[in-house]
Amino acid sequence: MSNKIHSILNKEALNKQDIVFLLELDEKDQQLLFKKAAEVKAAYVGKITWFRGLIEYSNICSKNCYYCGIRSGNKQTKRYELTDEEVLSAAQFAIDHQYGSLVLQSGERSNRDFTAHITKLLKAIKQLSSPALGITLSMGEQSEKVFREWYDAGAHRYLLRIESSNPDLYHKLHPDDDIHNFEKRLAALRLLKKLNYQTGTGVMIGTPFQTTEHLANDLIFMRNFDIDMCGMGPYIENANTPLYKHKSRLLPLKDRFRLSLKMIAILRIMMKDINIAAATAMQAIDPLGREKAIMAGANVIMPNITPGKYRNDYDLYENKPCTNEEASDCNTCLEVRIGMTGDKIGYGAWGDSKHYFTRRKNP
Ligand code: 5AD
Ligand code: SF4
Ligand code: FES
Repeated sequence: MSNKIHSILNKEALNKQDIVFLLELDEKDQQLLFKKAAEVKAAYVGKITWFRGLIEYSNICSKNCYYCGIRSGNKQTKRYELTDEEVLSAAQFAIDHQYGSLVLQSGERSNRDFTAHITKLLKAIKQLSSPALGITLSMGEQSEKVFREWYDAGAHRYLLRIESSNPDLYHKLHPDDDIHNFEKRLAALRLLKKLNYQTGTGVMIGTPFQTTEHLANDLIFMRNFDIDMCGMGPYIENANTPLYKHKSRLLPLKDRFRLSLKMIAILRIMMKDINIAAATAMQAIDPLGREKAIMAGANVIMPNITPGKYRNDYDLYENKPCTNEEASDCNTCLEVRIGMTGDKIGYGAWGDSKHYFTRRKNP
């Protein structure tokens, strides 16, 4: 068995069958996969974890994804939006703690008041910091004009999860209407790349109706799309969402977690120099979830720097960690936790995706 695993791990390019095989490795054999991914990470991007201060700007969302706790149809959620002062003071925290960059995340909204306000905030954050903070946005699908305006205002990375690269599965996880359209999502992802953003995507792992083959195809999708960054993590059911009724179809949480670790490790082996985030959802299942992700190939972590009083309301899924903490708690906690992985923390730099620069040099 271990010979077969070694020969697959050393192949030039993994095919779908290889990926399915690796995704199905048992608890003992998976260690070989994680070890290989750690070697690839050390050789190509170094044993460094980059911090991005995560600001959960607003939980107001115009969409109604079946799995998500802040979907517009969930009337239980108390809606909020940070004030400009709160955003800038979170940015100042990131500067003071040498994070190098920020992620500004929110529910999806495309009305002009909202998009213009984000433009204004981007400019203000850039002005606040010298050397300037790097800024990643995660604000859903937008028009080319808005993506361009935000790029010009200072955002240079964008995360837009495809959620599933399989159109049929995508449609099982979303309402069947014009705004939850797979082709439109894909078109938005293409636009980001065209506009020179460092482009990130990802999927949820362990959703109802998902097969190992779907996940293998998701990884192949990421390779074919030639992404620069990836954020992916386990699906965690939320009782206030329609998808909850399929709870009985789900893998146990522990298996969804293990599958997520394997997805990260395989992607690291397939796309050696991209940035891969240790998603917060990993820690919702396992107290050491993000550390384990880092040891299996991830190299980015997002300490939450949202003011504590809002954190309970950005409730995408159950058991979200750090909801009773403040930015300084997460900072101290993560310094210790990253230390345990053997990585160094990448302070004071943007920590860009190396892949972005190599792909632009060799198109
Ligand atoms: N479980 C795990 N991840 C979720 N997301 C939304 N709802 C859930 C859930 N129930 C993820 C989606 C989305 C990101 C903001 O959060 O992938 O892109
Ligand atoms: Fe809105 Fe994103 Fe949640 Fe969908 S997953 S409801 S777009 S925040
Ligand atoms: Fe938030 Fe540990 S990362 S408390």
